Amino acid sequence: MQHFIVIGNPINHSKSPQIHHAFAESVGLDICYQRQFCPDNKDSFEAVVQAFFAGGGVGANVTLPFKETAHQLCHSTGALSDDAKMAGAVNTLMVRDGKLYGDNTDGRGLVSDLLSQGIDLTNKKIAILGAGGATRGAILPLLHQGAHLAIYNRTLAKAEQLVQDFNHPNLSAHSLDELQQDTHFDVIINATSATTTGQSMDFGRITADFAYDMMYGKPSAFLAHFANQGAGTSDGFGMLIHQAKLAFELWTGATVDLSAVAIAP
Ligand code: ATR
Repeated sequence: MQHFIVIGNPINHSKSPQIHHAFAESVGLDICYQRQFCPDNKDSFEAVVQAFFAGGGVGANVTLPFKETAHQLCHSTGALSDDAKMAGAVNTLMVRDGKLYGDNTDGRGLVSDLLSQGIDLTNKKIAILGAGGATRGAILPLLHQGAHLAIYNRTLAKAEQLVQDFNHPNLSAHSLDELQQDTHFDVIINATSATTTGQSMDFGRITADFAYDMMYGKPSAFLAHFANQGAGTSDGFGMLIHQAKLAFELWTGATVDLSAVAIAP
């Protein structure tokens, strides 16, 4: 029996146990995957992580508000994948070569979900709305696919900071005002938190073939806007499944066939 946890605060809503148990069943592995509440401070997080792995735990997922704390911990005492380094955040922990190792599978999960929906990313023009943690995690995996990324953010300086940090020719920063220009994108991705907080946003005159909202489980004004234009749309449920699949495969060495796994949103 292999033991896994997802650490967060709050954590009751997490679908990760259901998802990982479905993966385990599909590949014939006996696992226990539990939700782990943690008080919102660095010391508690560190204590939970240390106790879990000292007790023989195999892998931990990290969710809000600890992804940056997990990054700091791996940065100071362990090791980080390139994706986790550039994202400045960790969502997957394990012990590797006797050291805590942090990865971030969120951005690769987004890319896998897009590819599995038949969305080609090579040399494609992609707009991302938002310049927070969700965007930061998605940039490197999207660039690795050969995509050209335009980041639109309410606070232009934050988008410019991302462009400076990644220092890549296929990356540009824009203010939300520029959404009023007649520009066409292959894909537009909503990575702002406006959807979750229920705030309205002006999506301007931009058009796209395909619109992807990283959020799921709530009606999305963003998806409704682009569906109206005739764009294909997807919410972020597939990203959740794919980031989990990547973590599960990293931990167990198994390969999950998603067509053999049924997980309801
Ligand atoms: P996350 O980690 O989920 O990305 P975050 O770091 O808090 O969350 O970032 C939220 C993003 O949503 C930011 O890009 C924010 O824009 P600002 O940088 O200007 O704050 C964006 N955002 C939140 N509410 C918004 C709104 N009503 N309109 C436009 N952008 C919004």
